[in-house]
Amino acid sequence: MTDARAFFTDVVAMAPMAQGGNLPYRRLCREFGAELTCSEMVVADKLVKGGERPLMRHHPSEETFGIQLCGKRPETLAEGARMAVAQGARFVDLNFGCPIDLITRRGSGAALLKKPRKLAQLVATVREAIDVPLSVKIRSGWTEQRINAVDVAREAEAAGADAVVVHGRTRAQRYKKSADWSVIADVAEAVTIPVLGNGDIMTPWDLERRRRETRVRSFLIARGCLIKPWVFRELLTGEPWRPTVAERWAVMQRYFEFAREYFGDDEKGLGRCHRFVIWHLHFWHRWRDYTRADFDAHLPDSLIQRREDPREIDDAEERLLMSPDEADHEVIFERLVGGDHPGVGVGLERMISA
Ligand SMILES: Cc1cc2nc3c(=O)[nH]c(=O)nc-3n(C[C@H](O)[C@H](O)[C@H](O)COP(=O)(O)O)c2cc1C
Repeated sequence: MTDARAFFTDVVAMAPMAQGGNLPYRRLCREFGAELTCSEMVVADKLVKGGERPLMRHHPSEETFGIQLCGKRPETLAEGARMAVAQGARFVDLNFGCPIDLITRRGSGAALLKKPRKLAQLVATVREAIDVPLSVKIRSGWTEQRINAVDVAREAEAAGADAVVVHGRTRAQRYKKSADWSVIADVAEAVTIPVLGNGDIMTPWDLERRRRETRVRSFLIARGCLIKPWVFRELLTGEPWRPTVAERWAVMQRYFEFAREYFGDDEKGLGRCHRFVIWHLHFWHRWRDYTRADFDAHLPDSLIQRREDPREIDDAEERLLMSPDEADHEVIFERLVGGDHPGVGVGLERMISA
């Protein structure tokens, strides 16, 4: 049986993300060093009725792949967890952070933060059902008036969770405000299981700061890896990577190839590749060549919270890659399909096989 403590200790993990955590993108992040990968959120009620199956697939390179489940019925979650393990999940994560109305109105996701006892009962039932590592993902609380991550984490630990992921925002907060790492730090003081800190990590300097200021030793990365999948290599080595325009094209090309391999080369498959590439470009175009000085100047907030003013950029290729414009994203997609860009033939070995 896996040593659950070791499994969740000192890791930099890719966060569960609807859409963003699609299989080809996880494969890319894994190449860049993501130590754990996780499925998009799987709704347990749908799963046990035969739905959600494609979300449970993983690529062979994802040796430490987990499946995230969302639900509020103990037996359904337990059955879903057994199915996840049968599908090859090396760990199961329970989602107690989803803020979406559709989910919380039914009493699932972040709504369970309001009912720590019920949440603990769910953890205990799933714990009984499976013998792979079990994590729970929570937020700091439901609202700023109801910050209770420490209590929830303690309940989850007592009920048998092996790790707790804390996203330092309440359900009510969107991404406007920075994540509150003091709550994450408090949880790390309060429980003995590994805590994965989550919120606003995008540069090696963010990671260094959180390591220095808290006891947190494991981290979960979401938007940071949507903006730059190579963030994992940067976080693991402590060194920023400043890719050239050609290297950035090569990264996009690699994703496109993985997507084409997964979705297929026919019209339907290419349609899905298009949908996902365009989706990812909403994040990719936000990449900037930030320096340590930029990081320092932006404290106490992380650079991920920065909203860029459009810059004057001379280089046309550079301008295209930074463009938020959908028409430009379509141009990029067409060039990927046609292999008509400066990334053709550019090797990424230096970054992906370190
Ligand atoms: C596009 C997107 C989809 C997400 N989907 C999920 C999800 O399915 N399950 C989940 O627990 N969190 C989900 N999240 C939240 C992230 O896992 C993470 O907690 C949050 O973005 C904070 O981390 P960050 O500051 O590194 O982005 C999603 C976030 C994004 C940006």
